[in-house]
Amino acid sequence: MNSAAFEQGGNGRHEQVTFLTNERKMAPARKTSIAVGVVISLLVVAAVVGFLVWLFIVRSRDLENEATLHKHSSSTLVYSGQIKLLKPEYSPIYENPDSAEFQQVARDLEGIMNDTFTRDPLLSKYYTKSVITAFSEGTLAYHWSQFDIPETDQEIVPELTEERVVEALRRSIRQEGKRVGNIAVTASDITASSTDPRMARDPRSKKCFYSLMADTTSKEFTSPEHPRRYPANSRCQWQIRAPKGYAIIIRFRTFHIEDDCANDYVAIYDSLSPDSTYAITKQCGLRPPTNPLEVVSSGNIVLVNLITDVARRPGFRAVYTVIPVIAAGSCGASLTTPTGNFTSPHFPSFYPPLVDCNWNINVPAGRKIKMEFNMFRVKEPGVDTSSCHKDFIEVLGKKYCGERRRLVLSSATNTLEVKFHSDESYTDKGFRITYTAFDPVNPCPGQFACTSGYCIKKEQHCDGWNDCEDMSDEKNCRCDDGQFTCSNGLCRPQYFVCDRVNDCGDNSDEEHCDCGRAEERCGDGACIPQEFICDGKNDCADGSDEVSCAAAAGICNDFSFKCKNNLCVNKVNAECDREQDCSDGSDEQGCDCGVRPYKHNRIVGGQNADVGEWPWQVSLHFKTSGHVCGASIISNKWLLSAAHCFIQPDSAYKIISNWLTYSGLRDQNIQDTVQKRTLKNIITHPNYDPMSYDYDISLLELSQPLNFTNTVHPICLPAPTHVFSAGSSCFVTGWGTLREGGSVAQILQKAEVKVINDTVCNMVTEGQVTSRMMCSGYLTGGVDACQGDSGGPLVCRSDVGKWFQAGIVSWGEGCARRNKPGVYTRVTKLRDWIREFTNI
Ligand code: ARG
Repeated sequence: MNSAAFEQGGNGRHEQVTFLTNERKMAPARKTSIAVGVVISLLVVAAVVGFLVWLFIVRSRDLENEATLHKHSSSTLVYSGQIKLLKPEYSPIYENPDSAEFQQVARDLEGIMNDTFTRDPLLSKYYTKSVITAFSEGTLAYHWSQFDIPETDQEIVPELTEERVVEALRRSIRQEGKRVGNIAVTASDITASSTDPRMARDPRSKKCFYSLMADTTSKEFTSPEHPRRYPANSRCQWQIRAPKGYAIIIRFRTFHIEDDCANDYVAIYDSLSPDSTYAITKQCGLRPPTNPLEVVSSGNIVLVNLITDVARRPGFRAVYTVIPVIAAGSCGASLTTPTGNFTSPHFPSFYPPLVDCNWNINVPAGRKIKMEFNMFRVKEPGVDTSSCHKDFIEVLGKKYCGERRRLVLSSATNTLEVKFHSDESYTDKGFRITYTAFDPVNPCPGQFACTSGYCIKKEQHCDGWNDCEDMSDEKNCRCDDGQFTCSNGLCRPQYFVCDRVNDCGDNSDEEHCDCGRAEERCGDGACIPQEFICDGKNDCADGSDEVSCAAAAGICNDFSFKCKNNLCVNKVNAECDREQDCSDGSDEQGCDCGVRPYKHNRIVGGQNADVGEWPWQVSLHFKTSGHVCGASIISNKWLLSAAHCFIQPDSAYKIISNWLTYSGLRDQNIQDTVQKRTLKNIITHPNYDPMSYDYDISLLELSQPLNFTNTVHPICLPAPTHVFSAGSSCFVTGWGTLREGGSVAQILQKAEVKVINDTVCNMVTEGQVTSRMMCSGYLTGGVDACQGDSGGPLVCRSDVGKWFQAGIVSWGEGCARRNKPGVYTRVTKLRDWIREFTNI
């Protein structure tokens, strides 16, 4: 993999350019599928609702007797928060729910809440109960109250707001509730916010409830029955406290919760109530060891909840300890070195809530400061990233929040102030910033300087690609003869014009491309008479005239998906799209492929692949030479690779015992999760031509089947009619050389490449591509596969998030050269050949 240039902005380098997506190209087929989808979704929703009703009504009676949360067809609202008590004075005895003191004050307070809600004309109708769950220094009491609204009164739900609940409590306490027994309450410090009823627990019931004390040693807690799967319908809570002056840090060593956060999740609060105002985070899914969840509280309390439904997973193991509290304003620094770096507090753990930091950078007079974010994730549910009204970083008068892959900012003077603010709710991984002082006269010695201060290679200036990411390298350029001048001033290769891909970004290369009257355009830009559309014959070279023919439902043409029962579906990429299109369901069979068990953050930085990111990737080792070729897992017994890895002048490459396959590998030197297998059979395509590389495909049968795990998983094979549209982004992976003539990689590399239009592909390869080949990469060069990547997969993510193998790394002229994209074996064309031998 040639990743040297990839590092210099190759990954997704032209984000500004919007390509025509499948969705827009294939509108008619989409409509039919949407209609079918809607019907199916309605049926699914009905089934799910039925199931949930059963689950919550029938099952919840035994599972939940402390909070009758789900009455027949009613909805349940729970408000949770805190109340400040003037009396009694705080004492650690209140931390023990079994103590007489806890029970007395809790009862009194529950009495006040009861009176309040039963006297409120509206709330009293639906009020069920109030529970005090904890006390902490302050003295703060943590509470929740439950309201059940019968089916007949559902329209009242919008009126039962947080404000209404808080206001009722304040009013009643102001009037009469100031003193009850030995407690005194202030009316002002009361909060309540809507929470998931499943998190409403009573510590006195002791069911999956734990009170933990953090100290300077590391202690551990786990989900129930870990590492075995957690029980169905778990509702667990851990209240963790630390001595005064300390914050609590929780590091999840393993984390495997069901994928859908609506069903199963871990929610962590900077409070002892599941009060959304203090939510630190809510997480689900399987986290790879490289991206552990680590959260920090702002004070000395934290609440961890585990909520699950019927699907069961191994859960988590977490370690907790204390660290000194960051007092507001104590983070940040004054920085005077010419280069340096800094991070959000506790990076790479989640930053704590309620902090404000200031960094003041000062470099020698006459210099300016360039600041680069290597990692930036300050994301919060429901926050508009243009206003950033919650957590943000502020630089040069602008607030930044959300998630960004790369951001470079430059100061106007020799000083720069960076502010960071986190509010009381939701925190995230934060950021890591490096800065350098530069000479404004020559900001990028030997390179081109973007307006942002980012430096790019001279050749990338005016090459038609937005390398600076602010377009500053593509403005005021003079286009060469062979180039088209877009309306926005960009230059594009002439053959990009009218290819149905919006290469200019403003679509000017696709305007005035109208075919004649009564003509239609093919996917590749050619014009054909209208009556050729859906006539059962493929008139467009890419078959786009026959792909989406609603009228032809069930009738097979060269471009429809053929079901097992030989009926046809005329829908683009119908296989494994999570919608059943074939009456026999065969389009959704064999679809346990193309997913990566580990959840990955979008920012992984650099071109090294993460653990489990490409679980279908295989490394082929030859005798004592180590890695020589790539391959992909297509089933537990079969791998897909290139023919040229085995057909060489030296016949030793044909001998099965000379090969060893490594699955689940990332680092060639670390083989802990690897499954090594020998080969039983090598099948190369009989038509493989070593001169032209035509039919460059092989099948490898393993002597022992693979066990699928988080790091070993098959890729989906596309149907022969699957469309990988020009312009779409795919990934190529491998341990190939890092540059032409360079050495092979130790860590698996990934590179984002674009599918190149066939006409363009044929043009730039001077007619050397056959219909069993396809091009992918960049005509500007810089990102490509290279020697040693051969046999490895080119994979593309489908609309529903599954990965399909579009190509097999085959050949290229050099690596990453300008106008010389990588050439891949076109898997769709050889799909039937694969099935013939493997039955996959
Ligand atoms: N034939 C090469 C190999 O054996 C792969 C070349 C791919 N080249 C390219 N520029 N995409 O590893």
